[in-house]
Amino acid sequence: MKKLSECRFHLRTYGCQMNERDSDALAAELLAAGMSRTEIESEADIIIFNTCSVREQAERKALGKIGITKKLKRDREDLIIGVVGCMAERIGSELIDKMPHVDFVAGTGKLHMIPEMIKDALEKRKKSVETGHDDSECAGLFGSLSRRSDSKQQTPSAFISIMRGCNCFCSYCIVPYVRGREKSRPMREIVDEALSLVDSGVKEVFLLGQNVAGYDPDSGRKRDPDASPFAELLEKLNSISGLSRIRFTSPHPADFNARLISAVLSLPKVCRSIHLPVQSGSDRILRLMNRPYSADKYLSIISRLKDSCPEMTFSTDVIVGFPSETDEDFLATRSLMKTVGFDNAFIFKYSPRSGTKAADLPDDVPISVKEDRNRILLEDLASSVEERNKMLVGRTFEALVEGPSKRNSERWTGRSDNNKVIIFDPCVGITPGDLLQIVITRSTATTLYGKILQ
Ligand code: SAH
Ligand code: SF4
Ligand code: F3S
Repeated sequence: MKKLSECRFHLRTYGCQMNERDSDALAAELLAAGMSRTEIESEADIIIFNTCSVREQAERKALGKIGITKKLKRDREDLIIGVVGCMAERIGSELIDKMPHVDFVAGTGKLHMIPEMIKDALEKRKKSVETGHDDSECAGLFGSLSRRSDSKQQTPSAFISIMRGCNCFCSYCIVPYVRGREKSRPMREIVDEALSLVDSGVKEVFLLGQNVAGYDPDSGRKRDPDASPFAELLEKLNSISGLSRIRFTSPHPADFNARLISAVLSLPKVCRSIHLPVQSGSDRILRLMNRPYSADKYLSIISRLKDSCPEMTFSTDVIVGFPSETDEDFLATRSLMKTVGFDNAFIFKYSPRSGTKAADLPDDVPISVKEDRNRILLEDLASSVEERNKMLVGRTFEALVEGPSKRNSERWTGRSDNNKVIIFDPCVGITPGDLLQIVITRSTATTLYGKILQ
């Protein structure tokens, strides 16, 4: 029997940045327990799937991969398989009933128990299932991470989780059920984590939460609707010397108040690129989605930001084919998207999630219509981004250097403050984290190419 410290783990992550961040924290815990990490599944003693439940497709994908490991286990009886994260939370012990080759299941509030669960599987061949949320949960995983542990290359950017869970209960969404109630981290703790990241060379922090604009470390106290604890947090982080940039995802439009708008506009380190999920441009559908804002309110946030800062770019999330969505509703979304001129958009076909409010409504938009609407929005987006990218040729941007490009390592990539990825030929002595002036020489629908200004 192998000891824990002799085991190699392979960790696969599905879903959003919150899951990536949880995986980073989990990997750090397993490394601290003496295990080593492998990127090669067949070399691993323990395979862990950190799963997503947001759409049926996301679950199907993970279930398919977990199913395949049954064969691996036939040849290697001592192989340990763990399923963790959002789908583990949703399905719980049924996962082991359906897939008896799985050894442990840990929901989103029990990730800190994984080292213990692995030990039980190793030493006692004991299967375990832990789900549910309580106050003490994940205390460890909230804690400081000195650096993204899974980065193959040292990136200048690091995630900081500022809150967990969600209280919004958008009618289509499983997240509040699998991530539990909203809980914000104390401001001091976040600032300390940012300080230690900067000490270790990080230049950009990426603040994560399901609704960062609703960040509220003193929740329970009656809050002034014009106040914004998130804006206060941005101000504190902005004053950290050595930190160059602050990004965040995702704010809810209902919490994007005037206080937050003015903080975003006035703080120089807050990037001029905002991800603001709209979901639909139809007020009727927004109401059915339990998204408490109108298309006009959404557009007014965008125009207040854009009027003061024309450089600002926007991205969004949209769901097509929500129950009862008519052509007219869809056209309202299409027109809102044209009005804003997003630089990126994640378009999703509605997928009913059992247990949510919307799952009680008939899923009555045919899949072919969902697909058409999805395609139309993506085509609109591609052509408008291509047009705008053309206008950037000749312009100079300050880019935060990320490192060699994934496709062609002879070229490097950098990111502008307004979130444009720029590909360029590196110069001698360049390192990730440098801030360089780059002039754009060529553009395509998806990419900008540039040259370093000497
Ligand atoms: N908290 C974030 C998003 C979390 S989920 C926010 O509110 O911005 C990411 C995206 O998945 C959502 O913005 C939504 O567009 C999409 N999504 C969530 N549930 C879905 C469902 N049942 N069907 C299709 N898309 C969904
Ligand atoms: Fe889901 Fe809405 Fe919460 Fe985002 S804000 S996680 S869409 S419930
Ligand atoms: Fe998926 Fe969970 Fe994120 S459901 S989108 S991994 S919070």
